[in-house]
Amino acid sequence: MRIRVFGSADALARTLALDISRRVGDKPRMVLGLPTGRTPIPLYRELVRLHRSGRIDFSQATTFNLDEFLGLTPGDPRSYRAFMQRHLFDRVNVSPRRIQFLNGTPVDVGRECQRYERAIERAGGIDLQILGLGMNGHIGFNEPARALMARTHLTHLKPATRRANARFFDNRTGSVPREALSMGMATILHSRRIVLLATGATKARCVQRLIEGPVTPRLPGSFLQLHRSAEIWLDRAAASNLKR
Ligand code: GLP
Repeated sequence: MRIRVFGSADALARTLALDISRRVGDKPRMVLGLPTGRTPIPLYRELVRLHRSGRIDFSQATTFNLDEFLGLTPGDPRSYRAFMQRHLFDRVNVSPRRIQFLNGTPVDVGRECQRYERAIERAGGIDLQILGLGMNGHIGFNEPARALMARTHLTHLKPATRRANARFFDNRTGSVPREALSMGMATILHSRRIVLLATGATKARCVQRLIEGPVTPRLPGSFLQLHRSAEIWLDRAAASNLKR
């Protein structure tokens, strides 16, 4: 894995946004995999800035988000879909029909997961998957477990993950859905390039285990060690536990 350490979260976001704008310039029909969470917010801000100054055109690009809470409609302000609209989609020119999202209120969960897998396949696979990192090492909503799911699936959220997401729910952990839909490990690992972002000291221990520890389902992010083109982009605080 290629590790890159930046002086600040903003420097990281600026560099990645420029990198994305160059790649979308070279390949306008780029397929992007996108995360939610605090970590990618500066990246989305930079992408909006580049778009406003005419340096990135998303009109031909397709996006697939990693996950969605079960039971929330796309219009629910607490949904990940609404988060993405606020931070990126409403502010750039991604075509609404090229925004792909898991439906949090499907009639049939199994079918919805299959539909998503097929949509990714039909789009030609994901060119660049951006990931955040959960405090417990999850990617998407692939929670630490004895065994991980390969494909898009229904997942049960750990208490720690529900606590971390309480900020979207008036700080009430009890209101955070217990279940979500998420891309699986193979869905993520089949992306041509992966960039995992982690910033802040609270991620330092998890980042150290992800990079220097064994590949284990107890830390789903560690599976990135098996990918031929995975990059870990950190700020100094998140890199502070690394040995080298
Ligand atoms: C949620 C999302 C993850 C994300 C994680 C980290 O649980 N499902 O995809 O990576 O939060 O969030 P943050 O960036 O706020 O630390």
